[in-house]
Amino acid sequence: MLIKRTRGWEIGENKATPEGIYLKRRELVAAMGLGALALGLPSVAAADTKDPSASLYPAKRNDRYGAPKPIAEERRVTTYNNFYEFGFDKSIWRDAQKLEVRPWTIKVSGMVEKPFEIAIDDLLARVPLEERVYRHRCVETWSMIVPWTGFPMRSLVEICKPTGGAKYVAMKTLSKPSVMHEERDLAYPWPYTEGLAIDEATNELAFIATGLYGKPMPKPNGAPIRLVTPWKYGFKSIKSIVSLEFTDKRPVSFWEALQASEYGFWANVNPQVPHPRWSQATEKPLGSDERIPTQLYNGYGEFVASLYTDRKAEKLYM
Ligand code: MTE
Repeated sequence: MLIKRTRGWEIGENKATPEGIYLKRRELVAAMGLGALALGLPSVAAADTKDPSASLYPAKRNDRYGAPKPIAEERRVTTYNNFYEFGFDKSIWRDAQKLEVRPWTIKVSGMVEKPFEIAIDDLLARVPLEERVYRHRCVETWSMIVPWTGFPMRSLVEICKPTGGAKYVAMKTLSKPSVMHEERDLAYPWPYTEGLAIDEATNELAFIATGLYGKPMPKPNGAPIRLVTPWKYGFKSIKSIVSLEFTDKRPVSFWEALQASEYGFWANVNPQVPHPRWSQATEKPLGSDERIPTQLYNGYGEFVASLYTDRKAEKLYM
């Protein structure tokens, strides 16, 4: 992206963990009612067991959107991140532990019946959680397959009660420069902002994730609540959300504000449309040494392609 960093494919990786290892451990945790600590997992995972929502995990798997394999190794996914508020390289996971995720309130405003605020645990009490294994494709060409836990974004939109005129929903990440130290750099349009059209937000694939690998969301991955839109490049999947604003004007996202010619609003995955500075034809799964072909809409066309049939004039793939 715009900033100087080590790219995913420049880092030596081992092979991804076979799914069986993850599933086996997941079943063990559920059956024994034990946290990660008891299983001797790394400190990142152990810290998450203190989360007040820990008893909600793991949630039942929903395979309607496929069961892609291999699932990436947990330790890799929680220690190789893009979370620019904490730094412009991939190893921000230690710094991100400083993020306090309780109390955490989400503010709902704009074109809604009545603006309100809701605490994360009150929200979690209103929506049944499920697990979905999604492919994730970063615009930088690395990818991963991960088991998110959460609920359909459609359920959140229903709770927000947008009025008929609302066409988009804009989301913002926490602004806390004392902890998220890069937010002190005023050259960037903080806080991180993203947006979806309402029909995208209510598409069944759009997911609000509050957990990962059968546990509450690790801080480097966007605790306590983030978006996951697997048919779009990863930068759309905004982390640590504190506000939703319903509007009839298309929101300008963080990356779009910085460089609209490279990072657009729609940002749907398409291997045929290169980024101005690199090809998007292939991707490198985290933990793999080999590149694989990238798929249109990251392989989710059957669920989302119809969203774009009447939007052909738009720059849908950047
Ligand atoms: N959200 C915020 N607030 N800040 C960020 O820097 N990075 C985005 C997205 N959401 C980002 C963000 C990008 S570029 C990607 S690829 C994914 O988060 C990475 O998610 P992961 O670290 O869980 O793999």
